Amino acid sequence: GSDMAEEAKKLAGYAAVNDHIKNNYVVGVGSGSTIVYAVDRLAERVQQEKLKIVCVPTSFQARQLILQHGLPLSDLDRHPELDVAIDGADEVDSSLTLIKGGGGCLTQEKIVAECARHFIVIADYRKDSKCLGQQWKKGIPVEVIPMAYVPITRDITRRFGGEVVLRMGVNKAGPVVTDNGNFILDWKFENVHNWKEVNTAIKMIPGVVETGLFIGMAERVYFGMQDGTV
Ligand code: A5P
Repeated sequence: GSDMAEEAKKLAGYAAVNDHIKNNYVVGVGSGSTIVYAVDRLAERVQQEKLKIVCVPTSFQARQLILQHGLPLSDLDRHPELDVAIDGADEVDSSLTLIKGGGGCLTQEKIVAECARHFIVIADYRKDSKCLGQQWKKGIPVEVIPMAYVPITRDITRRFGGEVVLRMGVNKAGPVVTDNGNFILDWKFENVHNWKEVNTAIKMIPGVVETGLFIGMAERVYFGMQDGTV
């Protein structure tokens, strides 16, 4: 991203960690590029204030971030109740409905967020949107069981329109494989939908693991702005 967007991500990540992390907290750590700044600040606070926390990752990337920063790593087996989860988003609308999964980690992100008492989102100004699809043009990610991707693609386009594409690897031949061994479909929707209804309908299709629509989950969103405010 641009220098300004990077600075905005950092502002958001720092502010969220300053406001929402307390001693003895179990913390969910999201995925993506913005969360990196939050984990930097988290490690700094743990050192300076001698905080005791444990971290539950939402992806392989988050697990590595936690380990690289020397933070205590846990999981939902040992800590199924989190005090707070902090994560990025690809787009946020005016009712705090999110599109997530640009990095393909939506399923574990949603599971961890649902286990947290507080779910806090951090993003730069480019993710702030009135209406989903105005900013994020890559569609809504849907994680699917590989053998079902063609029937699911047909079902979604037939019922809801738009276009569904199988996400392909960048330095790899063939499709992206998620941390869970599944594929990602990106649904490029055309119209504004009732996201709650569409989310439920898509989740009911056999072979769908999870969608990147996060509805009624985010409690607060921190946007780093271009003028240096949050
Ligand atoms: C990962 O699958 C996503 O849900 C990320 O949380 C989201 O894409 C935000 O990423 P950035 O912080 O890199 O924008």
